[in-house]
Amino acid sequence: MPWRKHWVDPRIDADDPALLRQKLERRAYEVWISEIMLQQTRVAVVIDYWNRWMEKWPTIHELAATSGDDVLAAWRGLGYYSRATRIHNAAKLVCEDSAMKGLLPSSVDTLVAKVPGVGRYTAGAISAIVFGKAAPMVDGNVLRVLSRQLGLLGDVKTDKSVIDLLWAAADSLAKAVAEDSCDGEISSTTEEQISDRPGRWGQALMELGSTICTPKPDCEACPISTSCRAYGEGLQLASTRGLAP
Ligand code: ADE
Repeated sequence: MPWRKHWVDPRIDADDPALLRQKLERRAYEVWISEIMLQQTRVAVVIDYWNRWMEKWPTIHELAATSGDDVLAAWRGLGYYSRATRIHNAAKLVCEDSAMKGLLPSSVDTLVAKVPGVGRYTAGAISAIVFGKAAPMVDGNVLRVLSRQLGLLGDVKTDKSVIDLLWAAADSLAKAVAEDSCDGEISSTTEEQISDRPGRWGQALMELGSTICTPKPDCEACPISTSCRAYGEGLQLASTRGLAP
């Protein structure tokens, strides 16, 4: 993201495996912190917090070595303070773990299994944005976009069968995007193969859902309205609230 002052693209000048590892470690840490901050808080509010955080603790090791009180102070104003404590504890664990040694895992399953507080949304974001894996990242905004595209009438907030179906759709789409970007081979984490497409794709869906495909959508401005079943049938509002016509 352009607002990330500290952004480091791991693929640039990373011929040396040790350097690539260092860059991936840093980028994974940056994305992890931003995704946790962005849960329940708007991007415009998060930017300053994130930049101050990265100035204070540029690496996960520095975060792990700081005091819990300092972390809570940096979080003041963001709300949901358990997020800060959970991040701090997880940072210590990730640094102390002999397999991870400060580097977050690249796969969704390992992230969820090994990093406390990381659920499938955050794991998908880290896996796709940092490591270029074909992982879905589905937040409330993406659920709404996909639900409308497919013209579903279930409630995306409460109906588990609808939510599961939309995660499965997002998974298929992420795989299709990744395959499309590397001629049938899903990208892995070696230098040349880290694709930015899965991350860009997932973030584009989130952005669409937070700016255009909102609860009251601006369908005239939507770049994918022609493939949207809810739009075609005039069911944009019903499609996200479980209101049958
Ligand atoms: N909107 C666009 N990109 C995003 C991201 N990475 N996380 C949360 N919301 C976003």
